[in-house]
Amino acid sequence: MAEQPTMRAAVIDAFGAADTLRVTEIPVPAPGEREVLVRVHAAGVNAIDWATRAGQGVGVAEFPAVLGWDISGTVAATGAGVTRFAVGDAVFGMPRFPALAGGYADFAVAPEAELARVPAGIDHVTAASVPMVALTAWQTLFEHGGLLAGQRVLVSGAAGGVGHLAVQLAADAGAEVVATASGDNHDFVLGLGAHRAVDYRTEPVHEVVRDVDLVVDPRGGEDFHRLLGVLRPGGILVTLKGESADHRRSARERGVRAGFTYVHPDRAALDRIAALLGEGRIRPSVQQVFSLDDVAKAHSIGEVGHVRGRLVIELNDEESQ
Ligand SMILES: NC(=O)c1ccc[n+]([C@@H]2O[C@H](COP(=O)([O-])OP(=O)(O)OC[C@H]3O[C@@H](n4cnc5c(N)ncnc54)[C@H](OP(=O)(O)O)[C@@H]3O)[C@@H](O)[C@H]2O)c1
Repeated sequence: MAEQPTMRAAVIDAFGAADTLRVTEIPVPAPGEREVLVRVHAAGVNAIDWATRAGQGVGVAEFPAVLGWDISGTVAATGAGVTRFAVGDAVFGMPRFPALAGGYADFAVAPEAELARVPAGIDHVTAASVPMVALTAWQTLFEHGGLLAGQRVLVSGAAGGVGHLAVQLAADAGAEVVATASGDNHDFVLGLGAHRAVDYRTEPVHEVVRDVDLVVDPRGGEDFHRLLGVLRPGGILVTLKGESADHRRSARERGVRAGFTYVHPDRAALDRIAALLGEGRIRPSVQQVFSLDDVAKAHSIGEVGHVRGRLVIELNDEESQ
């Protein structure tokens, strides 16, 4: 019998600190029906990755587990019934979320319906930085928030992964964007298209911003309650952190609305995001690129909570151009 091929992957054997991540050899997965095997050239590192590693994110059914949802790479094999892609195509996406996708590995298997083509002129590191944060921003702004041109949006945490895409997508849609960020990040968020930047460390955002139609709240908790105060009557705050009857009640009492995004793979939105990326209408910012061996370093930097833009792991870089 032929030996099963193996690949390098960063795995965790239990929940724990960043040094729980270790690189080892595991079998290359095989694509099932309507799935493709992707040779991963780059994998985005998201907040949910380090939360899951620590046991505070999505459920993990068995160990060792391979984290990582954002992938960009080339199709290496196709399963039965695949019609959208062929071997050699450059693809990216956030497959399977919230089930594990195994992105921190040389190869990952993904449903073809949850991938899009990497636009011409976009490298894999850039593409891998996009799917989760852009889908989250998209679903928050347009699906839950119902954003329209001319409305005023407050993007909290605007220099972070979700925030820096939310600013660009909202500005591209014709909204007026108020961004909160540390002072050091003001030039960055204004350069992304924000019309005004507020330093949440030195100014009480809920006292200096008014008449907002839509708030993007990546933090929840106290922020949720405070930021309700910036909305105009009938406005909506969409949080990324927890949904509760208490939230909805607080919003109702103030004559505003509360929504919640839990990001999900979405082919139509990903195709639209890919088009915007290809047209240069959104430009993700990658703060730092790591090798697979340094994935623990990426987690340690990310979980401090002040990344500007994105962190990305580069794999198989000899072929990634
Ligand atoms: N529900 C969902 O579907 C979903 C999807 C994606 C992400 N999320 C969650 O959304 C959150 C943000 O994700 P992300 O990818 O944007 O994370 P991130 O890139 O790690 O966010 C870092 C940003 O947070 C900002 N920040 C830190 N402390 C802040 C504070 N006290 N007030 C305002 N901003 C602050 C920082 O701004 P400065 O450096 O300028 O201070 C930094 O730019 C995470 O908790 C993540 O788990 C949820």
